[in-house]
Amino acid sequence: MSVSDLFKPLELLHGPAMRNRFMLAPLTNQQSEHDGRASEFDQHWIEQLAQGGYGLIQTCATHVEASGIGFERQLGIFCDEHLAGLTAMASAIRQGGGLSAVQLHHAGHRANPLIGGIPAPASHYTVPGVRALTTEEVERIRDNFIAGAVRAEQAGFDGVAIHGAFGWILSEFLSPLFNDRTDKYGGSLENRARLTLEVIEGIRRRCGPAFQIGWRLSVERYGLLLEELREVTADILQRELIDYLDLALWDSAQIVQDGTFKGQSMLSVFTRLDRGGVKLGTAGKIMGAQRAAQLLEEGCDFVLIGRAGILQRDFPLQVQANPHYDSPKLPVTAQYLRSGGMSERFINHMRGWQSFVVRGSL
Ligand SMILES: Cc1cc2nc3c(=O)[nH]c(=O)nc-3n(C[C@H](O)[C@H](O)[C@H](O)COP(=O)(O)O)c2cc1C
Repeated sequence: MSVSDLFKPLELLHGPAMRNRFMLAPLTNQQSEHDGRASEFDQHWIEQLAQGGYGLIQTCATHVEASGIGFERQLGIFCDEHLAGLTAMASAIRQGGGLSAVQLHHAGHRANPLIGGIPAPASHYTVPGVRALTTEEVERIRDNFIAGAVRAEQAGFDGVAIHGAFGWILSEFLSPLFNDRTDKYGGSLENRARLTLEVIEGIRRRCGPAFQIGWRLSVERYGLLLEELREVTADILQRELIDYLDLALWDSAQIVQDGTFKGQSMLSVFTRLDRGGVKLGTAGKIMGAQRAAQLLEEGCDFVLIGRAGILQRDFPLQVQANPHYDSPKLPVTAQYLRSGGMSERFINHMRGWQSFVVRGSL
């Protein structure tokens, strides 16, 4: 596989094909209005990316319930007041020629009370003084994921990407460490995966035949067990319940440290599964053209671009122009980001990320 293979279209099970193998990873940028409406800064950011040559652009994590908020100035999709801003974002992406997906998110036990969040843990012991969600409350959250997808479709997005990573609610429920429930959403692996499955299947039922569903999965921390995650994934792939799996690795070259797959590349644990027509991609330190092409060799259908996409909004176009393109080295100055068109709010958000912005740079 060579860099030119990254520019071959990719058919998905539903809806239009991706024009190439580049997907923008979901990137929280904390620049929405306080009530979750998209701001002019969200729109400007999306417009820059839309012209960047991506096959598919995911939005930042977008909360499906007001009380499920995880970050200040987080984008929302929990009421119709959000539709106008989301519609403008979807249109900008379409005009740029890419597909679009809203990343659907609920912060679960990490919902932040300082900004209106209500912690929603699977178990009694997770947050001191906060009881576990009742079964009805879990079903309400499930229904709000589905309602979020319906709203995304109304706004003109090609699909949604379900946030099942990083200990947020769906990954929290999957974890035997965080989930000690005795109802149908806890106990066996089948029960712990039920919330994820009901969200996916509910969206498929409620949205149109061309609507695309992605699922983001992370494999580390939060008591998650790789062997179990592989089993759940195998089932979802085998039944072709989603259009694409987005493996949220922090390093796409990660090696499994213990258990059944010790010594193997984390990616290979998933690329070896029979995926039917489902497409698979990974994120994690993909900072240049050659690494992106190598990941196709390693069994990915597409690659997710995170930090490299913040550094250079048109990463795919850069790769197209130069098969040896590499991202600028980190950290960069605030002025570098500003001159690329990034807002002060986003720059301030990036100051919180280790080794991204030169400390003290104005
Ligand atoms: C500023 C920033 C914001 C992020 N926001 C999200 C998010 O909203 N949802 C999510 O699933 N992952 C989020 N991530 C993780 C990225 O999508 C990606 O998986 C990770 O950064 C690894 O890819 P990279 O090495 O190319 O940056 C974020 C990462 C960064 C750096």
